Amino acid sequence: GVVVGRRLRSRRKWRRVVGVLRELEDSCETPVGRLKQVVDAMAVEMHAGLASEGGSKLKMLLTFVDRLPTGSEIGTYYALDLGGTNFRVLRVQLGGTRSSILSKDVKRQRIPEHLMTSTSEDLFDFITSKLKQFVEQEETVSEAAQSRTRELGFTFSFPVKQISIRSGFLIRWNKGFAIEDMIGCEIVERLQGALMKKGLDMWATVLVNDTVGILALGHYYDADTVAAVKIGTGTNACYMERADAIIKCQGLLTSSGGMVVNMEWGNFWSSHLPRTTYDIDMDLESPNPNDQGFEKMISGMYLGDIVRRVILRMCEESDIFGPVSSKLLTPFVLEMPLMAAMHEDESPDLKEVAAILRETLEIQGVPLKARRLVVKVCDVVTRRAARLAAAGIVGILKKIGRDGTGGITGSRSRSDAKMRRTVVAVEGSLYTSYMMFREYLHEALNEILGEEVAQHVVLRTTEDGSCVGAALLAALHSSSSSSSSS
Ligand code: GLC
Repeated sequence: GVVVGRRLRSRRKWRRVVGVLRELEDSCETPVGRLKQVVDAMAVEMHAGLASEGGSKLKMLLTFVDRLPTGSEIGTYYALDLGGTNFRVLRVQLGGTRSSILSKDVKRQRIPEHLMTSTSEDLFDFITSKLKQFVEQEETVSEAAQSRTRELGFTFSFPVKQISIRSGFLIRWNKGFAIEDMIGCEIVERLQGALMKKGLDMWATVLVNDTVGILALGHYYDADTVAAVKIGTGTNACYMERADAIIKCQGLLTSSGGMVVNMEWGNFWSSHLPRTTYDIDMDLESPNPNDQGFEKMISGMYLGDIVRRVILRMCEESDIFGPVSSKLLTPFVLEMPLMAAMHEDESPDLKEVAAILRETLEIQGVPLKARRLVVKVCDVVTRRAARLAAAGIVGILKKIGRDGTGGITGSRSRSDAKMRRTVVAVEGSLYTSYMMFREYLHEALNEILGEEVAQHVVLRTTEDGSCVGAALLAALHSSSSSSSSS
């Protein structure tokens, strides 16, 4: 009797845990019909954000980038890239013909966590001292003696209200950064001040978002590149828009008739997004509640925490995971690379999953069938993220009339709309280093667009675009270059 009772009880517990998974699956569902609603909502919000300031949760920020690198850029340029988990400094030498980046040196480094919530002085002190070290290491004595002011592209990947290509004000922080004294401040001025303090003879010629850098590099290699997407710690997209479609800025004159728009799609929201109670709780406990809703469903900073919350829930429902550990109660302990490693664990007994549960979440001795559930949870969360990102991309294509339907106001039917080759530059660790994420994203693109249209859409990964692209734009806007517009 005792044995039977125990078995019954354990079966009931197991059923409850599976119930948690089923519920998650249901609330994360993204059938193609729903994705198409997200596509439409994205295109509609893009219009609204372009129509008036504050017209949408999509800020659709002006970048003042009206032309993109072509390959003819020449000279040595630097870039400083701040905006995610890593901070990068770069120097490139451009040869003047497409695909002839003569040399490229990048140094990456994790931002010390305390600097993300400290003061702007501390932060800029840190990045400029790293930049100084880098310059001193990279430059030969004769180069240093040339005494030409070095030109720098500054990538600052947060929502910024720009007033020119080299000037902008921070609107708000996200991705775990929270430095109060910088909100509303002009960013390049801060940087220039810090450079001067360090005695570094450098001039920031452009201020760009990471997505804009990626677009610039994508275009440098391939002139059919019209948009760029980043899916890393955070997520965002930008694209080349017609100046006359940017209605909130009437009479905007640009040399090309177009301007790159930084969508800040991380803050996109629509009632069609499949939101779960885990998303709601995570948002409330995040440093920026009620902000960046789309980003919180898609990007690397958040996915692991959704998974952690589901596992916690399973632990609370039953003791097959053992007791709830304090680690399991700690927000953001389960970082993206670990989640991907669990998801992609191919060992038959899920050794990697066991190790990560034990070491990172401090839950010991989880039986194999429960480890399988954990893998499944990662799968559900990643699949939803990738499919939503795909819907976002198609939303952009729709807005610019490259989704094969002739645009949101267009009347051409699918069959007579001539599809041009359309390239979207993509970067970010989720897309580049997480195979399952990338596969799900491609699969969803094909489902939404249909094979025929999808074959004209190329997602192209660039490398270090956020900083190389910033250096390219610095070259394009260089005070010494003949093509300068200033
Ligand atoms: C956040 C920032 C955005 C950036 C993105 C990716 O969404 O607001 O500016 O492009 O992260 O780094």
